[in-house]
Amino acid sequence: MKRREIFAGNWKMYTTLSEALELVKGIIDGLGNIGSREVIVFPPAVNAREVVKACGGKISVGLQNMYHEKEGAFTGEISPVMVKDAGARYILIGHSERRHVFKESDGMINKKVKAAYEYGLEPVLCVGELLEEREAGNSEIVVEAQLRAACEGISAEQMKKMVIAYEPVWAIGTGKVATPEIADSMHKSIRKVLAALYGNDIAAMVPILYGGSVKPDNIAGLFSPEDIDGVLVGGASLKAKSFLDIIHVKL
Ligand code: PGA
Repeated sequence: MKRREIFAGNWKMYTTLSEALELVKGIIDGLGNIGSREVIVFPPAVNAREVVKACGGKISVGLQNMYHEKEGAFTGEISPVMVKDAGARYILIGHSERRHVFKESDGMINKKVKAAYEYGLEPVLCVGELLEEREAGNSEIVVEAQLRAACEGISAEQMKKMVIAYEPVWAIGTGKVATPEIADSMHKSIRKVLAALYGNDIAAMVPILYGGSVKPDNIAGLFSPEDIDGVLVGGASLKAKSFLDIIHVKL
């Protein structure tokens, strides 16, 4: 079975509404025929509804974070119901900036994954090791622990709607991209963990994206190995031209 190919842009805390709409227009204007490839953008939540409208179903939309509760006295947070109501299909969970800057624990991430399924959102779960963990030879162990914790209590049926993004922390926003060999071997090890948890058929279905300093000039190598099903792009997704060059790789 051929897995879904996904090209996702994480806009982080960039873009005002007018910049967001201009970016969407630029992407749609240049998209052309991308076959079965799927493009997702993750705009700042405050502009979600307008971005969904502008995407017109040609590009999927996700949000970058949410709290796990349906509603309540949680000042500053947004709920899964609100994310869904804004028209988003996906929710990014456990991005390294959430884990490390905002100190989200594996337990919180697991609650968010559960909430995503409960409210009909599709999680894009991010995992990845720190530089010191890689240097100590612990990358696989760290990522396996993140995966097992995030997926606790998640059924095989629910996993069919999971997307995983492997994003080594040392590669995010640093210009230091993982080699295709490193990325592929980490993706294979992630798939092995999925197979141990859910069996080979489910493991073979889940798209695993690579993220961390993906640019037009390194996408061709990264999109070659059979276990890399797409990319999650930060900086280079903020300009329509560079994001399109990435989306159009080897079409
Ligand atoms: P980057 O960000 O492409 O700017 O390294 C990737 C990400 O944070 O998802």
